[in-house]
Amino acid sequence: MSKQRAKWVVGNWKMHGRLAENEVLLRALVDGAGTAATGTVRVGVCVPAPYLAQAEALLREAPLVWGVQDVSAYAEGAYTGEVAAGMAADFGATLAIVGHSERRAYHGERSEVVALKAQRALDAGLTPIVCVGETLEQRESGATQAVVGAQIDAVLAALPVAGLARIVVAYEPVWAIGTGKSATAEQAQEMHAFLRARLASKDAALADVPLLYGGSVKPDNAQTLFGQKDIDGGLIGGASLKSQDFLAICAAAR
Ligand code: 13P
Repeated sequence: MSKQRAKWVVGNWKMHGRLAENEVLLRALVDGAGTAATGTVRVGVCVPAPYLAQAEALLREAPLVWGVQDVSAYAEGAYTGEVAAGMAADFGATLAIVGHSERRAYHGERSEVVALKAQRALDAGLTPIVCVGETLEQRESGATQAVVGAQIDAVLAALPVAGLARIVVAYEPVWAIGTGKSATAEQAQEMHAFLRARLASKDAALADVPLLYGGSVKPDNAQTLFGQKDIDGGLIGGASLKSQDFLAICAAAR
């Protein structure tokens, strides 16, 4: 835990964007990336799958990585509508968000399926960003650590330590997503410390797994959040669609 960990800032565009507006946004990120993505800050964007080729074409020469927002739990087969991790890798993707709360809430994804998706991402050479987080009701009833603990435990139980050492975890309290109401730095740090301890108790090699915070990260709160001991950067929704805001958040990670 003593080692200096790199910072990560990853945009999650969710189901936003069209070719023309993506191009404007991506070009602005490329222009600003020289200063935003320094040696210690890794900057990425997770785009809707149809735009992977566009991301690859525009970001290939830039110090930015790209990825998808979900992958299938299967490597290939008769799974209509699904996108395999290997398909994303074909377009140069290196990141795959798995288990986002919107997938859990609207698509019934359970933690066991999230673990399978993380494994498929690893198999294809992608870095899975495993999302965990509690709802407001769960927090108010004092169940936050039980809920988040169970979500991470399912992944810790299903993957080998060598694979787990290559994951990223994003703590995203559901009540902070898209609400403009970020967790306080103290609330976020408390949960990050909890997650780091949980990972380290599985294996000491997992103590340095990057832990990102997500939920209403903006230019004006990024620096305080990222300054916490166990917060290694952010997973950014709404603010990742505005180049100035996203680049300002990247700068706050330096
Ligand atoms: P917002 O930054 O829009 O709150 O979204 C966070 C998120 O869900 C990132 O995955």
